[in-house]
Amino acid sequence: MSELNLQRAGKSMSQPRGRYSLLLLVVLFLSLAHAGQAQTTSVTATADVHLGVATCAGGPCHGAASTAKKNGVLQNEYLTWQVHDKHARAYSVLEGDVGKRIAANLGIGPATEAKQCLDCHADNVPAEARGVQFKISDGVGCEACHGGAQRWLGPHVSGHVDHAALVKDDGLYPTDLPADRAKLCLGCHLGDETHVITHKIMGAGHPRLSFELQTFSQIQPAHYVIDDIYRKRKTVSQGVQFWAVGQAMGLEKLVSGIAADKHQGNGVFPELVFFDCQACHHPMSNLRWQKRASTGLGPGIPHFNDANAIMLRTIAARVAPEMSKSLDSDIHALHLALSAGEGNPAEIAKRLGATAHQIGGVLAVHDFTKADMHEMLLAVAKSSTNGDASDYAAAEQVTMAFASIIYTLNSAGDLDAATYAALKGGLNQCYGAIQKEDSYDPVKFAAAAKAVTQAMPSS
Ligand code: HEC
Ligand code: HEC
Ligand code: HEC
Ligand code: HEC
Repeated sequence: MSELNLQRAGKSMSQPRGRYSLLLLVVLFLSLAHAGQAQTTSVTATADVHLGVATCAGGPCHGAASTAKKNGVLQNEYLTWQVHDKHARAYSVLEGDVGKRIAANLGIGPATEAKQCLDCHADNVPAEARGVQFKISDGVGCEACHGGAQRWLGPHVSGHVDHAALVKDDGLYPTDLPADRAKLCLGCHLGDETHVITHKIMGAGHPRLSFELQTFSQIQPAHYVIDDIYRKRKTVSQGVQFWAVGQAMGLEKLVSGIAADKHQGNGVFPELVFFDCQACHHPMSNLRWQKRASTGLGPGIPHFNDANAIMLRTIAARVAPEMSKSLDSDIHALHLALSAGEGNPAEIAKRLGATAHQIGGVLAVHDFTKADMHEMLLAVAKSSTNGDASDYAAAEQVTMAFASIIYTLNSAGDLDAATYAALKGGLNQCYGAIQKEDSYDPVKFAAAAKAVTQAMPSS
């Protein structure tokens, strides 16, 4: 933790990504076993009353001081969240120096009272949906992820109603299902219509957001274990499935933001939060532009942040080839519409969003084989050697893609010790190459990505 805190002290745009050093330890040594098929349900945030963290932490339920495992549940979830999970501090960072500075630069009064901050830094439900023990200062509390407990608490405590029924009838959020988890986490970690993040907020000093569903699910200190009892109650999906579904949802959310962008308040500029940050923000002493077939754009032109798009292309080429052609052409068209004035960006963004949504549906139920993962790993690596993933944000996604695939293969027992060690060595090089945004070198990164492919035995 202290290492992460230390890294956070830096200025936002030059901040080394300290989380990745921690991640190497977490991702590579934890072992969740591989699983079968994922299901999806469409759940919308409920209007149920949020009873507050104290309600969950009270008594013996989830507030134990140590693991007192009962019915498969750890019972010390509160402690894990309170002590180790950054979500518990999401509100208090608003009162820190950086939070105060951002709020002062924006002129919005205290950040702890600003809706535009609280929507992501707390469980900001309306006053009428706050129970007696609800405290906004709890930050991103249990119910911000698990859903307001008003209806599900009773049957949940009674133990007589199964998990599926609580989800279906009582407003418990299905955090185990990839598409639903993606929707939940990306809402705050990428932004959407109810969690609005802008370049103005970034310009005021907010850190750049980066996210990958599988990797961040791993970094979040686990307050649950996946064992036989868990498997009976819930869906256990492959790590790589969270990765794949997260890419589809990430692209869908980004382009829906682009489609809704009204060019308001930015003069001639579109909303820059949708664009590749480093396209404008890297030092001129570090020249790194490369030609990229997928954008069709020349040098000196900012482009939308297509890191998720690049990943989804490689996934779709393998898993949903019939849709991959229209995906490729829509991505290309959106680049030209946004950055070269050819075509209607909102129209193309909507079409691309629909394609990403459709592919996401396929990925949520696809059973990824060893051969799929092998091919996707090589395809992801190729995107960094052919220039497509030459951006910093894309390199970050490539690295997390490698981590997700290697982790899934290893959890399923598909890698021998020597291969695993070699892959880990390559992955380490990738993490090394993305440590610093400002001095990021795509040529060095491509060499690191190559080390990963060389360590991968042919299938
Ligand atoms: C779309 C959701 C979203 C909005 C809106 C948002 N934030 Fe954040 N904020 C985040 C996320 C996610 C992180 C963590 C970034 C990471 O580590 O990847 C973060 C990080 C931060 C940090 C750094 C925390 C740390 O541990 O160093 C501060 C400070 C902060 N936000 C303040 C604000 C303020 C002030 C506002 C309102 C003007 C605001 N945020 C609005 C999602 C949001
Ligand atoms: C940032 C989102 C998030 C927050 C905040 C959060 N959880 Fe979770 N929780 C998850 C995810 C993801 C899982 C794993 C998927 C699943 O089992 O549904 C999970 C699983 C669980 C489980 C399931 C264990 C099992 O064996 O079925 C319990 C119990 C739980 N959380 C309790 C809590 C409590 C209590 C809090 C607050 C102190 C909390 N959670 C806060 C996301 C969150
Ligand atoms: C209500 C908004 C919200 C939701 C939902 C949410 N997060 Fe977060 N998350 C945040 C904020 C804000 C921070 C930054 C807190 C800080 O730095 O103090 C954060 C921080 C994190 C971090 C720590 C990152 C770091 O820099 O070390 C991880 C990991 C994370 N979230 C994973 C997840 C996952 C996985 C989910 C979905 C299961 C999720 N989050 C859902 C708002 C949210
Ligand atoms: C099209 C170019 C462009 C893109 C893309 C862009 N920015 Fe900016 N950014 C600017 C400009 C111009 C400024 C204002 C600089 C000034 O005030 O001197 C700025 C200011 C900032 C600042 C404040 C810098 C300071 O010195 O205080 C931050 C932080 C920032 N941007 C972050 C981001 C992030 C994060 C992204 C990606 C989500 C991003 N920017 C995308 C052009 C861009």
